[in-house]
Amino acid sequence: MSGQATPGTVTVTMDGTNKSTKLQLIDGTIGPQVADIRKLYSDLGIFTYDPGYGGTAACDSKITYIDGDEGILLHRGYPIEQLATQSSFLEVAYLMLNGELPNAAQKADFDAGVMRHTMVHEQMRSFFQGFRRDAHPMAVMCGVVGAMSAFYHDSLDINNPEHRRISAFRLIAKVPTIAAMAYKYSVGQPFVYPRNDLGYAENFLYMMNAVPAEPYHVNPILARAMDRILILHADHEQNASTSTVRLAGSTGANPFACIAAGIASLWGPAHGGANEAVLKMLAEIGSVENVKHFLDQVKDKNSHSRLMGFGHRVYKNFDPRAKIMQQTCHEVLGELGIKNEPLLDLAVELERIALSDDYFIARKLYPNVDFYSGIILKAMGIPTSMFTVLFAVARTVGWVSQWMEMIEDPSQRIGRPRQVYTGSPQRDFVPASQRG
Ligand code: CMC
Repeated sequence: MSGQATPGTVTVTMDGTNKSTKLQLIDGTIGPQVADIRKLYSDLGIFTYDPGYGGTAACDSKITYIDGDEGILLHRGYPIEQLATQSSFLEVAYLMLNGELPNAAQKADFDAGVMRHTMVHEQMRSFFQGFRRDAHPMAVMCGVVGAMSAFYHDSLDINNPEHRRISAFRLIAKVPTIAAMAYKYSVGQPFVYPRNDLGYAENFLYMMNAVPAEPYHVNPILARAMDRILILHADHEQNASTSTVRLAGSTGANPFACIAAGIASLWGPAHGGANEAVLKMLAEIGSVENVKHFLDQVKDKNSHSRLMGFGHRVYKNFDPRAKIMQQTCHEVLGELGIKNEPLLDLAVELERIALSDDYFIARKLYPNVDFYSGIILKAMGIPTSMFTVLFAVARTVGWVSQWMEMIEDPSQRIGRPRQVYTGSPQRDFVPASQRG
């Protein structure tokens, strides 16, 4: 058994039969106990049913802890508020991968180690030419990150710890380069090579904004804000894209393929695509007078529209990342001297009205990390189509850490959920000539 077995058990008895089984309870360090249901099928012949996995722990993990009722997010035990304000993205990456904060020498070594891998294979440049110029950068990311497995054959042995380490460095270092190349390709500008003398976020902004024709100096306010945005998105426990990476990785697939699968999963508007969707939504609402009408539409089940940037599967009180993001949004706009940002005014009003509306109160729907991130990114001059790409850049650290943890877990098995079959029972094939 994995996790910490406790003396507690849960007895499951099948009504109307004399069959029962005891399920062992497992304790985490913090958080609710978990019932080990692995014997349920062999003892009682039944599966559990949990579409969306809202009540299922799929693995052990030491990386991230979320208490959705209290609005707590910890990475390796450290609160996100402290990491976002006192740490740096690469330090958080070290923490996630290694379990502890680095000392000065370890940090310098790690930072240099990651930055040494920022360039991509030169042949990858021609790979981009195959995409239409108007391709969404997330489509390009899915393809090119997946293609990394065709370029870095020398680190694909997942059973070799050194290969895993190099792949982790390569992914964390090269995904921003690929992201910036996807952007440059979409605007028809030449690719900009990375600069390893810059910080991680700084280099990303440099590759996005510099052109060969003139010198470019990255605004330190923007670099700091970008670093914080990356920290806030770095990991989030067993969310959809991370679970996708783990499921793909459980088959023994190589890490580049697994991260590409994670990127595909992140793209959806219910997940990482929400930051882009928030800005589109704000533009559609247009002005404060239209908020009520928009919210009426959202509350109408037949409209299939949602208040983007609101609600979370786990947070039912507040999303701690959203609080920091809102604060960062005000800071960044202030530091950039943007006094009047109609989208921010609209977002603040939308949030205020939604938070006092019975529909949202009853369903415990609060702003999530994406509600304000789009506004900051827009103020920083990042195009909307790159918002989810930025999320992918940040989350690569979480995906890689979770993938590493899974591969190193001796109890790891291929992920293989079961189902409730609701199709036709067995029947005999009828030749076409005899079908009615
Ligand atoms: N606007 C309006 N109603 C909502 C919303 C919303 N944003 N979110 C949930 N609801 C309603 C939903 O209609 C349902 O109502 P009812 O009980 O009457 O049928 C109830 O709240 C529960 O919703 P659910 O779909 O069962 O909740 P979930 O846990 O499956 O979904 C979510 C979580 C994040 C997918 C959802 O809240 C959502 O679609 N939010 C908007 C998209 C968004 O902002 N996503 C970013 C999430 S944070 C970043 C990340 O980690 O990716």
